[in-house]
Amino acid sequence: MNAGASDGRVVNDVVLEVEDLVMHFGPVRAVDGVSFRLRRGQVMALVGESGSGKSTVGRCIVRLLEPTAGAVLLGGTDVTHLSRARLRGHRRDVSIVFQDPAGSLNPRMLVGEVVAEPLRLQGRGLSRRDRQARVTEGLARVGLRAEVARRYPHELSGGQRQRVSIARALMSDPTLLIADEPTSALDVSVQASVLNLLADLQRDIGFACLFITHDLSAVEYLADEIAVMYLGQLVEQGTRERVFASPSHPYTQALLSAAPVPDPVQQRARRPVLLGDDIPSAMDPPSGCRFHTRCPVAVQRCADEVPALRRVGAGTVACHLVDDDGSGPDVRVAHPRDTVPGPSPTRRSRSTA
Ligand SMILES: Nc1ncnc2c1ncn2[C@@H]1O[C@H](COP(=O)(O)OP(=O)(O)OP(=O)(O)O)[C@@H](O)[C@H]1O
Ligand SMILES: [Mg+2]
Repeated sequence: MNAGASDGRVVNDVVLEVEDLVMHFGPVRAVDGVSFRLRRGQVMALVGESGSGKSTVGRCIVRLLEPTAGAVLLGGTDVTHLSRARLRGHRRDVSIVFQDPAGSLNPRMLVGEVVAEPLRLQGRGLSRRDRQARVTEGLARVGLRAEVARRYPHELSGGQRQRVSIARALMSDPTLLIADEPTSALDVSVQASVLNLLADLQRDIGFACLFITHDLSAVEYLADEIAVMYLGQLVEQGTRERVFASPSHPYTQALLSAAPVPDPVQQRARRPVLLGDDIPSAMDPPSGCRFHTRCPVAVQRCADEVPALRRVGAGTVACHLVDDDGSGPDVRVAHPRDTVPGPSPTRRSRSTA
């Protein structure tokens, strides 16, 4: 089986395979056994609360970090332990766009140089004129005019800078783009236009995309698949339709209960599930299911036994209480405020009034 999984010809539709990825920073278990795959042209949203390890997964994939254990396969080749020279050939297959365009663009380089950099790193012997043409083309693709090439990043708006980052990332024609919160540092007014741009480019060019985000409405708009992380591990993965319509894992249910829905009647009827902000430390994660200390429906077994990530339909879920068909407890019904005597009687009486 192993030979098949790592054989590029057998899995040639699979752009990215992450196998049991582990990344520890000293005692901090930032990522602790994450596995998933991405197919050509597929967009997967990686969601989960702050500190759950999403960016660390992205940074391991582009080899900004060397994983503690596990493997990252790009187009069937394990790049986890490639030498720098051999890695260069694969670097062009994957690009990353960061949250903060101001921090990720070299302030001393002209925009034209920033965008041309991936061409230079590839060592393509392009003439100056060809390189300029490619830069102009790259800028046009993200809606920027050619003269932007002669400006410095700080002379541009936040939205324009993020467009430059996207232009640079796409310069090497990657098969995979990691977008780590690409709009969360931008003004709300320009977030939508940058998201639209990403969606259009993805549709036109067809690169696969790992889209790391807190913005669940963007997930609904952009992603084919959703993977949910909690304290360094995946707890659920599946198609966008399935996960939004019937999330299986209690954590996914809680996370999605806070997301806006388009229907105003449904929206008014919704009560977000409050998990409390007592997030366990990644240095000393809880026993059994890591979510059990905050799970409204946890039973003793959840503290004792680590739930395996099981196949459920077309996706996966790691929860003792979820059946093989994906059904299980609904924490949006068995609400913590209804089951645990809470310190907020006033709020309860208001909600029943
Ligand atoms: N270089 C590092 N050294 C030490 N600890 C780190 C390092 N990078 C990340 N961590 C820790 O690893 C854990 C996961 O961090 P990560 O940035 O991957 O989370 P995240 O899900 O991207 O969060 P956010 O939504 O806030 O961006 C956190 O506990 C974080 O403090
Ligand atoms: Mg992050």
